[in-house]
Amino acid sequence: MGKSIRTTDEGVDNFPTPSWATEIIIPYLRTPKTIMEPAVGEGDMLRVLQRRWPRASYITCDIRDVDPPSDYHITGDFLAMPPEPLADLVITNPPYCRNWHAEFAKKCLTHVRPGGQVALLVPTGFAGSARRLRFHLDHPADFYWLPRRPSFTGDGKNGGTEYMWWVYTAGSAAGQTSSRNFFLE
Ligand SMILES: C[S@@+](CC[C@H](N)C(=O)[O-])C[C@H]1O[C@@H](n2cnc3c(N)ncnc32)[C@H](O)[C@@H]1O
Repeated sequence: MGKSIRTTDEGVDNFPTPSWATEIIIPYLRTPKTIMEPAVGEGDMLRVLQRRWPRASYITCDIRDVDPPSDYHITGDFLAMPPEPLADLVITNPPYCRNWHAEFAKKCLTHVRPGGQVALLVPTGFAGSARRLRFHLDHPADFYWLPRRPSFTGDGKNGGTEYMWWVYTAGSAAGQTSSRNFFLE
């Protein structure tokens, strides 16, 4: 696992995801042909996905100068990328600084093809925010609760924060009107 660096002044929030926290959601995702990891970091989540879907194409982005093993990598601000539905699955553990979970969620939805999925690993507190209520009501996601707190620092410390996966299905707004909860083992 990569080293954790936190430099919120520069808008960088680097917490590599432990592999189990990615592996646990994979059985609940549709098989994608093209996968986008828009805040890829050193590629901790990417490598787990590549093990499961070795034939998929991978598009990655990060604001830091990193070199992940993907098919197409963009160095820059994902939030400034032109919206283009490029992927069947957009998946990441987004940066937490500056309330960027919500911004990332909105932006990821602009990059997924119809019928595709967006999967975001976020602290459970994200769901309880009044500020994000309108977004949640307009974009119902399925919640997959992790069975234990992940450590993003490689030393087992977890900061006492619970996490869950948010999984959106693109184009489901008409069919899915509320969020569903799934408790992962
Ligand atoms: C919480 S880490 C997660 C890394 C990786 N997704 C993983 O799960 O191991 C967040 C990553 O977002 C990157 N990042 C922060 N702001 C960004 C932005 N505006 N656009 C793209 N990447 C950004 C950071 O450099 C960092 O690598």
